[in-house]
Amino acid sequence: MELYAKLFTKAALIYLIIGAILGISMGGFPGWIEKLRFVHIHLNLLGFMTMMIASVAYHVIPRFNARPLPWPAGVKYHFFLHNIGLLGLVSTHLAGGLWKSGLLHVLFILFSLSAGAGLLIMVYNLYGALAPKNETSIPNKITGDMKVSEVLSFFPNTLPIFVENGFQTLSNPVARETFAKVISLEKACEKHNVSLNPFLEKLNNSIHSQNQTPKPPAIKTSEGQKITWGEQCNKSIMVGSLIKTYGNTKAVFEKHYGEGCFSCPGQAIETVEQTAQMHNVSLDLILTEINCVIDSALNKKN
Ligand code: HEM
Ligand code: HEM
Repeated sequence: MELYAKLFTKAALIYLIIGAILGISMGGFPGWIEKLRFVHIHLNLLGFMTMMIASVAYHVIPRFNARPLPWPAGVKYHFFLHNIGLLGLVSTHLAGGLWKSGLLHVLFILFSLSAGAGLLIMVYNLYGALAPKNETSIPNKITGDMKVSEVLSFFPNTLPIFVENGFQTLSNPVARETFAKVISLEKACEKHNVSLNPFLEKLNNSIHSQNQTPKPPAIKTSEGQKITWGEQCNKSIMVGSLIKTYGNTKAVFEKHYGEGCFSCPGQAIETVEQTAQMHNVSLDLILTEINCVIDSALNKKN
């Protein structure tokens, strides 16, 4: 859990204790209700409740939606603005700031603005982390003018066809991130001496047969397998064991599932297949990339 998400939980619990003490005091001395009500309510609601929600939401939403906060540094500013605002609000209210004119009232308004600004940062960050991924509509046909990376992102299952037909370099994720983004299918075929039309036919046949294949079965909960050095990865390998054996494969998961993936306690015992289904990423693509990383790790050692 990130530092400020943790600090929010700690602060929330402290406000709960103080809020409850004030509540008990009001119950014991009803004459204090008028004076302490605002402080009790805001320590409990703006302090304990809102901060606890902020803490959990900052941790969970980016992970579950596989989208980072649009302004991660803003969490720190939120923490300070919210706490300074709340403590200032309750202090100036206790001193009568809401009803008095002059400096106290001005301070009450400034602290209100501080807390409000903190809340605005929270709304901006959480709303941004909820935004859907940019998805353009999937074309129904692969054409020669499409960029290679475009074809692979719309139809990840075509990767093995590229690799089998002379584009071995594409099994390297770096190649897919770099030159595949700038070169069209037509130009790539020209460079690799592959005839365009038969290759296009193969690709299009594969995507049409892919559309007819039934959806993968629901995630099975059977136990995953462990992997040992020298072995290739398959869909039943547990992510925790894979990363323990081949540390570099972590980058593949981070690329597809987001960087927060490894702070989820479930990942260690989930299989590669389960994680691919959960994140709606092609299992073939993930396995191809993982096995490329494994191959290069094994080659380095030999
Ligand atoms: C030991 C725990 C608590 C005690 C003894 C306590 C006691 C009290 C008392 C005596 C009042 C004043 C009632 C009145 O105006 O007549 C009050 C009001 C209030 N308390 Fe608490 N409280 C506790 C915890 C909480 C918590 C955890 C929350 C919120 C998360 C909360 C939210 C409120 C609110 C919103 C009001 C105002 C209700 C209204 O306007 O009618 N309290 N509480
Ligand atoms: C920028 C943050 C906030 C500011 C500046 C603020 C300010 C105020 C003020 C000036 C009042 C009227 C107090 C009075 O009549 O003495 C009030 C009442 C109240 N506020 Fe807030 N508030 C904030 C956030 C919140 C939040 C987040 C909650 C709940 C989640 C909340 C719950 C309440 C409640 C329940 C009352 C009514 C209290 C009563 O019945 O007397 N406030 N607030």
